[in-house]
Amino acid sequence: MAFATRHFVRAASSAAATAAAKKLIIKHVTVIGGGLMGAGIAQVAAASGHTVVLVDQSAEILKKSTKGIEESLKRVTKKKFADKPEAGAEFIEKTLKNLTTSTDAAAVVHSTDLVIEAIVENLEVKTELFKTLDKFAADHTIFASNTSSLQITKLANSTTRQDRFGGLHFFNPVPMMKLVEVIKTPMTSQKTFESLVDFSKAVGKSPVSCKDTPGFIVNRLLVPYMLEAVRLFERGDASKEDIDVAMKLGAGYPMGPFELLDYVGLDTSKYIIDGWHSLEPNNPLFAPSPLLNKLVEEKKLGKKTGEGFYKYK
Ligand code: NAI
Repeated sequence: MAFATRHFVRAASSAAATAAAKKLIIKHVTVIGGGLMGAGIAQVAAASGHTVVLVDQSAEILKKSTKGIEESLKRVTKKKFADKPEAGAEFIEKTLKNLTTSTDAAAVVHSTDLVIEAIVENLEVKTELFKTLDKFAADHTIFASNTSSLQITKLANSTTRQDRFGGLHFFNPVPMMKLVEVIKTPMTSQKTFESLVDFSKAVGKSPVSCKDTPGFIVNRLLVPYMLEAVRLFERGDASKEDIDVAMKLGAGYPMGPFELLDYVGLDTSKYIIDGWHSLEPNNPLFAPSPLLNKLVEEKKLGKKTGEGFYKYK
């Protein structure tokens, strides 16, 4: 029995060692899209010692992204190195040294281990980008999308590397939020999946895994919940203020559903629910909301436009 246990332990650890040996250790990362999410992803990757190239459409946008990263790094450093300003300055310097920018994705992906795409949420634009990058990236390079609502499988199918393709869904604001959803399609290899999990840990996040299903875990629960709150309000069952208070004090949520909708952006929420509704038209959880649609039509998109369910002016 003791021999069998020892034998089993040895076999298991040697199997784990073989699997680990096969995993790709990600050192060099290319992040495409220097907006809200891409800049945050580039920041945490560079801060954790990866060399990062951040790509966007113009030098002007990249200048803005870099400035945003510098400011965010200062905020992080103030907290992290409160008593050691010199160590903080060194951390910022090292992080920025790891980060370069480019407007030519095709020219920089040839030597990268991982491409993380965080461009506009549009299937055609994303598939076009991946199709192009597939031609220029090295054979071992893993592709990942940060999409919130599109099917990873559809994106992977625009390339010839479906086994080296997965989802890496970060949360906003990236430097603060600890979660990453690692999405495995039926074609994603175990090696790719494990490499993405390891990378998420290496950038200081807590990865969870999910199949390629609408909304993955968080949005799949959160978006129908927010829409149900809108329906409750639309029926006149409760005021939006009372619904927000109820969920904060009764369920312990940091924000009520209407505050959260305004924070996320009503257009973004509408876009997500419309996409899911077209995939599953008979699913009542994905039914579009007339009130949400009306507010979006009136350009009341939430905090970013100064008005959504609430006024911010
Ligand atoms: P954003 O609009 O802030 O940034 C997108 C950036 O991509 C822009 O700077 C734009 O110039 C650039 N871009 C567009 N097409 C490009 C191309 N072909 N090549 C290079 N750059 C290009 O958008 P955001 O919010 O950062 O979202 C990006 C992705 O992340 C989307 O897929 C979104 O669904 C996803 N996401 C967004 C979250 C959020 O809270 N905003 C949360 C999690 C995921």
